[in-house]
Amino acid sequence: MTFTVPDRDLSSLEDRVQTALRTSDDTGLTLLGHGEVTLVLELEARSGSFACKRLPVFPDRARLLNYEQTLRTYLRRLREGGVRVAETELWHQPRPGGGIVGYCVQETLPRKRLCSNLLHSESEAWAADFFSRFLDQVEGAVSPTLGLDAQASNWVDIDGELLYIDVTSPLMRDAAGRELLDVRLFFASLPWLLRDIVRVATAKSIFDKFYSTRGVVLDFLGNLHKERLGHLIPGFLAQAEARLDVPLTEQEVADYYRADARSWAFIQRLRKVDRLGHRLLRRPYPFLLPPDVDR
Ligand SMILES: Nc1ncnc2c1ncn2[C@@H]1O[C@H](COP(=O)(O)OP(=O)(O)O)[C@@H](O)[C@H]1O
Ligand SMILES: [Mg+2]
Repeated sequence: MTFTVPDRDLSSLEDRVQTALRTSDDTGLTLLGHGEVTLVLELEARSGSFACKRLPVFPDRARLLNYEQTLRTYLRRLREGGVRVAETELWHQPRPGGGIVGYCVQETLPRKRLCSNLLHSESEAWAADFFSRFLDQVEGAVSPTLGLDAQASNWVDIDGELLYIDVTSPLMRDAAGRELLDVRLFFASLPWLLRDIVRVATAKSIFDKFYSTRGVVLDFLGNLHKERLGHLIPGFLAQAEARLDVPLTEQEVADYYRADARSWAFIQRLRKVDRLGHRLLRRPYPFLLPPDVDR
């Protein structure tokens, strides 16, 4: 199931991204989707259609190689834990002005099969079956050193099997609980003022939830509010109960979502202020920002 990344096409996609950043006009780019931090761009090549996730610019080769190593280990460990992960290749090229630009590339998967869409279009029986397969995968993989960002929009159901797609920010910790990801680099789109605060705060609290089954399930359920799928929460809570030492409640899910939504909305506002600042100073803003999420 491997594929070859079309080198020249990716190079021209990056040219289009550069133009979009320079002109603050992204109409030349096709968006497949977005999360809180990244944009996923579609690349139509002769050999197929690809989902391209642009990474922060690596300042040097050592930082790139470090990331490559972390990504590969993450994909391997998820698969060993029983998670089916979408085939993912890392593509990179040096930039004329210095640094190295990289993309995580996957084949474009059908939008209709995204679990956040299927939970709208399929029956409650399908949802219950999905959630039990979901719990199996989460329980099998997650540990204090291996994390999962398991929101519904990070899974695709292909032929009755769940495929995990959100691997750009590998969630792994060493024995001392430190993130292996270059967190500083991956938070580079935050305004400098916030970066250090967030780096310190996130290193523990924001990331903790990804490293336990309970935390991953809480995050998944909380995000159902964002997806307008709140009606599924009571059934899912009942299904999850037997698997958790400390059961979750509807109240805890609602409180969690409110706090999570507030912090992301705050970060997005700060980034926009920062982008405006760049524009006023006539400096190109170096990041593509995701559109606002309706919360
Ligand atoms: N391989 C893919 N094929 C089709 N759509 C994709 C693919 N990968 C990502 N997307 C779309 O982009 C969204 C965000 O991608 P994801 O990898 O989860 O990044 P993020 O870290 O920003 O959440 C997904 O929810 C989905 O809608
Ligand atoms: Mg995602």
